[in-house]
Amino acid sequence: MMTKLFEAATLGSIDVKNRIFMAPLTRNRADNQTDILPDMAIDYYRQRASAGLIITEATQISPMGKGYFAAPGIYTQEQTAQWKKIVDAVHEEGGKIVLQLWHVGRISHTSLLPDNARPHAPSAVKAKAETFTENGFESCSDPVEMTEDDIKSTISDYKTAVQNCITAGFDGVEVHAANGYLIQQFLSDQTNKRTDQYGGNIENRARFLFEILDAVTGVMPADKVGIRFSPMVQGTNDLKATNPLEDYTYIIDKLNNYSLAYMHFVEKFSHAALRNEDEHAVMVLREKWDGFYIANGDYNLIDATVAVNSGFADAIAFGKPFIANPDLPYRLKTGAAFNPDRTDTYYGGGAEGYTDYPFLKST
Ligand SMILES: Cc1cc2nc3c(=O)[nH]c(=O)nc-3n(C[C@H](O)[C@H](O)[C@H](O)COP(=O)(O)O)c2cc1C
Repeated sequence: MMTKLFEAATLGSIDVKNRIFMAPLTRNRADNQTDILPDMAIDYYRQRASAGLIITEATQISPMGKGYFAAPGIYTQEQTAQWKKIVDAVHEEGGKIVLQLWHVGRISHTSLLPDNARPHAPSAVKAKAETFTENGFESCSDPVEMTEDDIKSTISDYKTAVQNCITAGFDGVEVHAANGYLIQQFLSDQTNKRTDQYGGNIENRARFLFEILDAVTGVMPADKVGIRFSPMVQGTNDLKATNPLEDYTYIIDKLNNYSLAYMHFVEKFSHAALRNEDEHAVMVLREKWDGFYIANGDYNLIDATVAVNSGFADAIAFGKPFIANPDLPYRLKTGAAFNPDRTDTYYGGGAEGYTDYPFLKST
């Protein structure tokens, strides 16, 4: 088949065997007290190592960064030791894996935070959104505005998390700046109402992001650091912005100086068509970016081939297709049918819908 999806590539200093990447997918199977993944997560990631690159599920950099029941962390030695087993398993299978660094900001609930603290946010603007707690889906709690000290200690938490990623042997990290979590809350004029140097114009609203990138690239070389944005998706986790095209034009211009491994866009959310002006903006923003570009959002074999063959994208991150098809690249290559998807087992639970999807060769 005339597709470049199976060609090897290099992003920054990461060599990958194909351009079919696994998108970050939260699966809520960690121990909720320790934020440590279970042993079956080793198998889960090992099974998916035929992806050119695995981007792990979003992983909190600190206890205050947590927003969902049973999501994993990367801030203790024990968590790091478990991640190391996962990384080793993926490497044994010839795969590559980067960890997605996460702080949810206001998308959290007091029951998930230390001493039932209120969630941290750039400003005390409550999200009209829900998060997943021990009791199922609940409204997000009222956030508190972060002080400058909170900002400093959060940046330092990113550093520690990246040091832990190095200890675990990850091939790199992805800074999660998408989907309405803390970094995007700072970027948006609707959630960031600060009057200090972190609020106001886009230069100020982007300061937190760039301070994080400075910290992260101070610990890990920039050519192993990627970033994820969802610039034109409006409404995820109640995140909207007045002028995203203008904001991200500034951000990407500046980002080009960092020589990062890649930029990754959630171009759209599944089955939600973008308005023409938003699709156009995605193309304008992609064009501004000098580096390796990962596209995501409802891609199938044909869309992905067109995007990669044309040079629009350097790789495609597939999300939901990788949940039900651990051997997704093989199925894309051979035209085999996909396994039926069990959406009721996406979030939480055990091995069912996690490690028990059959491989083509064994079916
Ligand atoms: C079960 C599930 C969990 C997800 N978890 C994350 C996550 O941890 N981090 C993230 O950036 N996006 C997350 N997403 C979004 C996906 O990475 C992806 O952007 C989205 O599913 C669209 O891609 P797709 O159409 O290929 O699935 C999640 C999506 C699903 C369905």
